[in-house]
Amino acid sequence: MKVNGTPYRSIWLHDNGWSVNIIDQTRLPHAFIIKTLKSMHAAAEAIRVMRVRGAPLIGATAAYGLALAMREDASDGNLSSASETLLATRPTAVNLRWALARMRQALAQLPASERVGKAYALAAGICDEDVAINYDIGRHALGVIRTLWQKKPAGCEAFHILTHCNAGWLATVDWGTALSAIYQAWDAGIPVHVWVDETRPRNQGAALTAWELLAHGIPHDVIVDNAGGHLMQHGLVDMCITGTDRTARNGDVCNKIGTYLKALAAHDNDVPFYVALPGPTIDWQMLDGVSGIPIEQRAASEVTHVGGKNSAGEIETVQITPDGTSACNYAFDVTPARLVTGLFTERGVCDASETGLLSLYPEQQGPAE
Ligand code: MRU
Repeated sequence: MKVNGTPYRSIWLHDNGWSVNIIDQTRLPHAFIIKTLKSMHAAAEAIRVMRVRGAPLIGATAAYGLALAMREDASDGNLSSASETLLATRPTAVNLRWALARMRQALAQLPASERVGKAYALAAGICDEDVAINYDIGRHALGVIRTLWQKKPAGCEAFHILTHCNAGWLATVDWGTALSAIYQAWDAGIPVHVWVDETRPRNQGAALTAWELLAHGIPHDVIVDNAGGHLMQHGLVDMCITGTDRTARNGDVCNKIGTYLKALAAHDNDVPFYVALPGPTIDWQMLDGVSGIPIEQRAASEVTHVGGKNSAGEIETVQITPDGTSACNYAFDVTPARLVTGLFTERGVCDASETGLLSLYPEQQGPAE
């Protein structure tokens, strides 16, 4: 997508042909900084501290991280230890495991001398594939959005979509998942307005989704995380669309903390609640999302402190809790499939259920391994 008129992806190979450029998302929305990753450890740090984040982008960064590792030392030992280091960076988004397994499987079969070139080619392939997948997610979602928009009484001025966290192009390599649907609806002439949950504690909605929508010229309002229920009760939300970091075989979806509460409110108010996801986000071995998906817990300081721009234009962090108060920081929650109206995937739209998923991914038939 474009930043000040220039097209960008969220990750790309540096002109030198080996190091990897990312947009440092910890600096948005107040500064647009491109950071160059020159080692596997730099890629791991970027994932861990969330310079890059969002399930698909975490996977793509890990893939390039493994390419950087192969450049450093293409031995079997380093293939194994670098994969483990990268895998340990964040536990919830399954795209990380998926990308590393795909790379490792292909690289392990090659002599060390052929691994570097192959690793870079595979990482580039994962990125290109992600862009195509996300475009297709939005294309399929557009049909549902158009139908819902056409059902609104004549004279309505806007179609209101609520989203949580950032499931935009910054969370993927390009387009996004939930926001791909929103971009394509807007570009098709549907007068979309987006309710953007701020998404405490790291404020991915307020900082990143708002920044993306502003750049694309899409009307939006940032709301506090607890506003969604009120808006739905008063008929001010036509549809919710979120992303997911891991989708279980039974259609349960794990996404940023607070998604479950939005799904409950949507269910109570008959608001359609859709989740947009690329195939690599499905964990076919995970039979039950609520009981099985590992939920990341992050530092308490993300809850006790907030960062932002002060009136002098300087970035600063302030403490919002009393000295000595402890805090607990679960980063994700799981929305049970029964609360999800449908799933937007690159292969089409399906029910949030094993049957629904298998109708689009029949190659996954058979018992989970
Ligand atoms: O902690 P984050 O910012 O990595 O969480 C990201 C999300 O929860 C997104 O909604 C999810 O990755 C799906 S976006 C394609």
